[in-house]
Amino acid sequence: MAMSMASSHAVYKRLNDAIFAASDACRAAIEHHGGENVVNATIGVMMDENGNFSCLPTVEKVYRELPIDQIANYAPIIGIPEYRDLAIDLTFADNRPDGYFTAVATAGGTGAVHHAIMNYAEKGDGVLTSDWYWGTYKVICEEEGCRLSTFKLFDENNNFNIEDFRRSVEIAIDGQDSLLVIINSPANNPTGFALTNDDWDQVIDTLAQAASQGRRISLLVDIAYIDYAGEKNETRKFMQKFSGLPKNVLVMFAFSMSKSFTFYGQRTGALVAFSTDESVIQEFLRINKYSCRATWSNINRGAQTLMVKLCNDQTAYKQFLKEREDLYNMVEKRGELFMKDARECGLPALPYNGGFFLSIPTKNADKICDRLHEDLIFAVPLKLGIRIACCSMSMKKLEGVAKKIKKAYDEAGE
Ligand SMILES: Cc1ncc(COP(=O)(O)O)c(C=O)c1O
Repeated sequence: MAMSMASSHAVYKRLNDAIFAASDACRAAIEHHGGENVVNATIGVMMDENGNFSCLPTVEKVYRELPIDQIANYAPIIGIPEYRDLAIDLTFADNRPDGYFTAVATAGGTGAVHHAIMNYAEKGDGVLTSDWYWGTYKVICEEEGCRLSTFKLFDENNNFNIEDFRRSVEIAIDGQDSLLVIINSPANNPTGFALTNDDWDQVIDTLAQAASQGRRISLLVDIAYIDYAGEKNETRKFMQKFSGLPKNVLVMFAFSMSKSFTFYGQRTGALVAFSTDESVIQEFLRINKYSCRATWSNINRGAQTLMVKLCNDQTAYKQFLKEREDLYNMVEKRGELFMKDARECGLPALPYNGGFFLSIPTKNADKICDRLHEDLIFAVPLKLGIRIACCSMSMKKLEGVAKKIKKAYDEAGE
């Protein structure tokens, strides 16, 4: 019999990650059939039209020119000061609400989500997010002794389901003194959906209402894919709406260099905080500094320095923005092609407004994805549907994929 040495709270841990399972199956198919014959719709990084990993050339150039001490030395616990300031600037662009701000460097956006859950959700409480969500939210909630509960992201017309959001917030705060809500928009993973500015008005109104009942409300906006969702101030306009929130509503943002700088493996992001009350921001800094020390001590100095150097060099920064715009246009074109094909063959894909992924709702995701393996198409089966990574598929590979999915979808008896 297998021996267990794990502590009682750790023994249950088992990562059941549909994404890694799907990409393992894909890797095996590539070995057997050759990469050129396999459609890999599982990878969450940007690949170019030749199937190679895309790192923005100016990011690579500036990084390779950094002196070794700027790469190898320790960084301050909460991050390099210029990096923290820039993380706030890049989060809001020209859309800062009126109030107080701060940021701590984190291990990617994942680290930001981790700290928000660790420090703003009570043990045993529910954390609320949409039913189409990035699975890691649940893993972190469970690791931190919380529960993840969900509201329906879409109504029957595939618009934001404000009714269900309102209802779910009410249910969640019944019996809780505080609530953490996580919203991943724009370019939601896994759907590519974005809340409109009107949706945001209603979300903010709902949270202010809950706060007026004496609850402490924290909102984490996960903006991991925001730079692949449209013009920078259009996609961030909703951020201005946080002005005037009561002091018992804290707004945080999960900022990440992974996608925005194509620097995924360098594990650098930030938890950015906004409040209309200065003492909430001072407390944020105090408790999150503690959590940084306790979790990873400090974050990759080279990546932070790269961001500072790049953004302070006008010529390099302009070039970088142009290169990123090209990547954004590339992924948009892929998404549009898939959506057009889906419409033509009657495959009911969810609304895609940008980002790395799009999704098809179905109860038969496992069955359909298994069937697609026969066509050497590998996608990720989720509880609510199938996730397609347009970030990693060339236009050529995308051709005909929607039709093949529709065939498997019909065969599965949808
Ligand atoms: C929705 C969402 N948020 C945050 C992240 C964080 O990524 P990272 O930790 O690499 O910055 C990801 C990465 O896949 C994501 O999909």
